[in-house]
Parts: sequence; C-alpha cells; structure tokens
Amino acid sequence: MYSLTGGPGSGKTTQIELLGRHGYATVSAGVLLRERAPQRILDQMLKGDLADHDFTNSLIGQALDEFKASHGNDKIVLDGYPRALIQVRWLMEAYEAEMTACLLLTASDECVIRRLVERGRSDDQPEAVKQRLKVYRRHISEVLDYYAARNVPVYEIDAERPVEEIFKSVKEILQF
Ligand code: AP5
Repeated sequence: MYSLTGGPGSGKTTQIELLGRHGYATVSAGVLLRERAPQRILDQMLKGDLADHDFTNSLIGQALDEFKASHGNDKIVLDGYPRALIQVRWLMEAYEAEMTACLLLTASDECVIRRLVERGRSDDQPEAVKQRLKVYRRHISEVLDYYAARNVPVYEIDAERPVEEIFKSVKEILQF
C-alpha cells in the first residue's frame, strides 16, 4: 500500500486517476469526504480546515478493508491521507505491515494557487486555499518524521512538471 500526498493543487487526484486506469485501487480522502461527510464536516472543509480525524480515519478504514480483498496490499494507493500525525499513527497501528512507501508531490505556492484559481471548486476561494496551504504546512513535517521513524521510504516528486512526466516518476517508483 502506498500513500500519495502533497499540498492542495499539487496534482494528487490527477495522478490517482491515472493509477486507477492501471489497475490500482485508489482511495481518495477528499473524494470520500465530499461524498459522505455530514454538513458539520463539509463546513469545516469549505473553510479549508481538516475534517474531523476520527470520521476520516473510519472512512479510510472501511474503504481499505473493501479494497484489500479485491486488490491485495501492493495495488492500493491512498490519495491525501494520512495528512496529520494522529492519522498516520492510526494508519500505521492498523496497517503498518502493509505500508510500502509515501510519494510526496511538491510544488510552489504560486504554481498551486494558479491551478486552483483556474479550477474553481467550491473550496478554491482565495481564503480557503490560503488556509489549506497553512494547514498542509502545519502538519506535513510531523507525518514525514513519523514515516522516517518507522523506516517508511518517502519519495519526493517535482509536481510542477507536466502531468505525463510526473506520472512517469510515479510509475518508476511503483515499478510498473
Ligand atoms: P482534497 O480533495 O484532497 O483537496 P486538496 O488536498 O486541497 O487538494 P486538491 O484537490 O485541491 O488538489 P490535488 O492535489 O488533488 O490536485 P488535483 O489533481 O485535483 O481535500 C479537500 C478537503 O478535504 C481538505 O481541505 C480537507 O478539508 C478535507 N480532507 C481531505 N483529506 C483529508 C484528510 N486526510 N484528513 C482530514 N481532512 C481531509 O489538481 C488540481 C488542479 O490542477 C486541477 O485543475 C488539475 O487539472 C490541475 N493539475 C494537476 N496536475 C497538473 C499539472 N501537472 N500541471 C498543470 N495542471 C495540473
């Protein structure tokens, strides 16, 4: 199992969709939350804050258990999860043996703000994007430190390149 993570607009979901076409089961925290979270949590998300951790962990746990039976562990990729210390702890306690690596998409604020302004999703308003970037920066180093302590490799990928070039890097890391 892999985690594909990165800041808002770094291209996680775009790469995840490509992986889905290559037989990977892709579990997207943002997509699951937008589909299934109650209004109270959708309101947190609209402001650019993280959704409730317990709710998010349980959504991901359910999806993982569904996919493990059909895809095996080596063909599951998590999109945008875990993204806080409490989540990575929960995941590693439940699934440590299955976690292979983290792929980290990196892009400058200028690049991602440009992309999100063009996209215009309901949480792509300037204040919410600023908040998502702030929240990402606040939490990501703790997640990466946790992986380091557990010897989970983290592969940084330059996500300012064209989609196809990024996907080439993803394929090299996943070895297919
Ligand atoms: P989520 O849906 O994961 O949003 P995000 O992290 O803010 O990321 P985005 O969807 O904005 O961007 P992306 O990196 O997926 O890029 P994409 O491929 O879409 O989460 C939304 C909210 O849900 C969070 O704010 C939070 O509230 C909640 N949430 C999610 N996960 C959570 C968790 N684990 N715990 C708690 N709460 C959680 O691309 C963006 C745009 O750029 C698109 O228009 C795309 O076409 C374009 N693009 C992509 N790649 C390229 C490229 N290489 N070149 C040019 N354009 C590109």
